Amino acid sequence: MSEAKIINIVSGKGGTGKTLLTAVLADLLGNENNSTLIVDLDVFVRGLTSLLYYHKKERLELIESDEISIADFFIDKGDLDISGKAKIATARYRTFDVVPSVSRVDEILTFTDLMPDTKSEAINLLSLLMKKFKTQYDFILLDSRAGYDELVAASHFISDVSVCVEEEDSISKITSNNLVNQLKEDSDSPIFRLTNKSRSTGQSTDNLAVDNLGLVPFDMDVMKTFGTQYFWTDITRTLYRSSIAKAWNNLSNKLGWNITVSEFRATPFGSDKVEKKLQFFSVKDRILLVYGLIIGFTGLLYPLIDISWIDNILSQPDGMVRVLAMFTGLFGFGLSAWIILKNKK
Ligand SMILES: Nc1ncnc2c1ncn2[C@@H]1O[C@H](COP(=O)(O)OP(=O)(O)OP(=O)(O)O)[C@@H](O)[C@H]1O
Ligand SMILES: [Mg+2]
Repeated sequence: MSEAKIINIVSGKGGTGKTLLTAVLADLLGNENNSTLIVDLDVFVRGLTSLLYYHKKERLELIESDEISIADFFIDKGDLDISGKAKIATARYRTFDVVPSVSRVDEILTFTDLMPDTKSEAINLLSLLMKKFKTQYDFILLDSRAGYDELVAASHFISDVSVCVEEEDSISKITSNNLVNQLKEDSDSPIFRLTNKSRSTGQSTDNLAVDNLGLVPFDMDVMKTFGTQYFWTDITRTLYRSSIAKAWNNLSNKLGWNITVSEFRATPFGSDKVEKKLQFFSVKDRILLVYGLIIGFTGLLYPLIDISWIDNILSQPDGMVRVLAMFTGLFGFGLSAWIILKNKK
């Protein structure tokens, strides 16, 4: 087996969506029979390890007694592992494996015990870690912490590529620029950007900067179901998931890897533009919006067309039924308008 390709996921500021995007990308790769591993390097926030905790039905202990976590590996400077006393834990999560950052999801750690003191120490530790897994996997994704430190610098150095996940607001852009420039200064490994939680509609990736892999839209259901059991079924047909697939295919193409994932998605709206607007609505609100419009149109059309046979069946005075239909129609449009205004807020 050839050596794994290492992809480092970073961001200038926190909360841009790295962890979730890393998990969805790993699942896309795993679905295409690529053996994929995610290493949770964000030992204090431990977003990915928390996803694993929920996946394991809230079991606090995430590793076996003879295994070590990333935190253990860092604290012991790799010694435990080198002496062969223990092996680094991997846990199955859907179609990929995860190395948890801690052994218990609620573990309290001491920063000074844990973090490598220098960039070269961090490079040594990460290289040792990667050596363990490089021949076992096709892809290793590193879920790094937000911002910059010795470990982020080292993870960029040892990776085949880094992807900086950013949002569209100006603070995210500045922090992202700073990080990308810093990492470019540090090492020659390629680095690309990816815009997540995008609220712009209709913009194609052709207009983006050369190093931008694309736009992943904001999706209300992604935000609402994050960490829950519904998440994976809810995102199956979303533009969110297919945009990540598209971004991956862009990256793979730019680096000449030629390993693509399926971008297929059955859209109920027939247009990405319409759907990008609807991403701000949850599934419940989308259903209410469509019901409102149907009731609105049929209710208001009813008084205008000749449907006296229905009046006969209902044996209601014609005028009364029409007035009632009109009010029902107005209620339908009112419902849709309320949903739109509520979401606009
Ligand atoms: N495209 C999206 N649309 C809507 N919400 C999103 C999207 N991507 C991520 N989110 C939400 O953003 C929040 C942060 O996501 P996540 O934890 O993956 O970010 P992160 O960059 O790993 O954060 P941290 O820097 O703390 O590690 C979550 O609530 C997630 O559901
Ligand atoms: Mg994270």
